[in-house]
Amino acid sequence: MVVKTIQNLQKMREAGRLLADIFESIPSKIQVDVSTAALDSWIEGELIKRQLVSQSKGYRGYRHVSCISVNNVVVHGVPSDSIILQDGDLVKVDVCAAWQGYCADMARCFFVGNKPDEKLQHLVTVAYQALDKGIAKAVEGNRLFDISAAIQEHVEKFGYGVVRDFAGHGIGKNMHENPDVPNFGIAGTGMRLKAGMTFAIEPMITQESYEIYIDSDHWTVKTKDGKYAAHVEDTVVVGKNGPEILTRL
Ligand code: MF3
Ligand code: CO
Repeated sequence: MVVKTIQNLQKMREAGRLLADIFESIPSKIQVDVSTAALDSWIEGELIKRQLVSQSKGYRGYRHVSCISVNNVVVHGVPSDSIILQDGDLVKVDVCAAWQGYCADMARCFFVGNKPDEKLQHLVTVAYQALDKGIAKAVEGNRLFDISAAIQEHVEKFGYGVVRDFAGHGIGKNMHENPDVPNFGIAGTGMRLKAGMTFAIEPMITQESYEIYIDSDHWTVKTKDGKYAAHVEDTVVVGKNGPEILTRL
């Protein structure tokens, strides 16, 4: 993997800032009776306003600007008119977009209504904590799987599962660049991190078993046991003294 130039990073910073700005308004759109297709259409309008170019629409035949994954869907939920949000639903929204040719990738968890189930709230809290623990390792001199191990250790401490079949990734001109950034691994191993490397770090965690299957639509990733999953993602730059998170305001 190549380190990004100052100019590349400026574009990724702007992509991240604009994307995070859109996510600020998503909670007001997460409501009972809203379809995930309607939410995706709203996001598309917001991307266009900011001259952000969706990286998912057209990717391997995918036709939407977001992945919206509800409850037992882990990631890659396909927006649909027939998926209607209900009170208490756990909704993961994932968007990757480019500004002047450079990408940012971001995902957040939301609940429909104002009384989230306590157990689900805890699952989501642990996902955000794991993300932060992984990001904290994105420092020059560390090893790639220090990030992975920090995520895995935190998640498993609570008995939750870490999904094995999908990973974070390098990011830049392309949504997915080398290397993969797994959410499990052995600290002290993997490539040496250098300032200017950019990663999308994205723990995908489950209430119990980490086993998943892909739905007949060839996209939707679901837990095998039907339990719930959480997924959060930030785009970060490895720094000499600490990480820089591009997808937070
Ligand atoms: N944004 C997702 C990721 O974090 C995947 C892209 S959605 C896809 O990698 F539908 F385009 F695959
Ligand atoms: Co990603």
